[in-house]
Amino acid sequence: MKNTVLSLQKQKEEGNKITMLTAYDYSTASLINAAGIETILVGDSLGMTMLGYEDTLPVTMEDMIHHTKSVAKGAPDALVIADMPFLSYQTSVYDAVVNAGRLMKEAGAQAVKLEGGATVKEQIKAITDAQIPVCAHIGMTPQSVNAMGGFKVQGKSIDAAKQIIEDALIVQEAGAFMVVLECVPAKLAAIVTERVNIPTIGIGAGAGCDGQVLVYQDMLNMFPGHQAKFVKHFGNIGEAMKQAFADYSKEVKDGTFPADEHTFAIDDEIIEAIRKGE
Ligand code: KIV
Repeated sequence: MKNTVLSLQKQKEEGNKITMLTAYDYSTASLINAAGIETILVGDSLGMTMLGYEDTLPVTMEDMIHHTKSVAKGAPDALVIADMPFLSYQTSVYDAVVNAGRLMKEAGAQAVKLEGGATVKEQIKAITDAQIPVCAHIGMTPQSVNAMGGFKVQGKSIDAAKQIIEDALIVQEAGAFMVVLECVPAKLAAIVTERVNIPTIGIGAGAGCDGQVLVYQDMLNMFPGHQAKFVKHFGNIGEAMKQAFADYSKEVKDGTFPADEHTFAIDDEIIEAIRKGE
């Protein structure tokens, strides 16, 4: 059964936590979908996890369309949300609608996500008016890493905490069907979750949110380098992959792979005839 904006809203109302993971390709999306995860985010985190960039800023609309297309094919049940990359919506309301439309029309997403609160309320309103569901993203917004002076927890002072509550109410008012809260103190995220009617999805925002999202390479321990405090490893797939690659290398080099069961047979007479040059 396809998850929809309505089924996710119902989950909030029933207190049934919403699950979300990122995916960037068909085979991973198929596995996540088969596990019953309700929403898949094609995050612009693909800039780091798939393309090797330092941050999300260089990610283009073409990158997002390319990856979202393959995820959409592998996710018959999960609601697929595509991230709007840096400068695909901040530049104007017109750009925001056109680019959100491309993620739906060309890539097959069922919703889009964009970063910001009050500053992007006109964009959220216009995209929603175009009948495209919008997931907002407030708190630590990675596209603002330079303006924020780094990847830092947001909302710790009284003014900053009030601004996060205000932003959540503004994006809801503008028409967002869901809001991601990233790197926000858990008690503040719980207050936001009580005050808005739309589902909140936390990443580094505690268990009081209506749902959770993680980058799949982080939760499978596949991504080398610094791991944020909010990441839990639910598997050690990076190590398992490295071991399998090393085993393959060893077996190719020592001639144990491929074995007979991995090869195709041919009649001995044909081989004999070829050998004799017939
Ligand atoms: O790009 C992404 O993966 C995200 C999540 C971390 C929320 O925005």
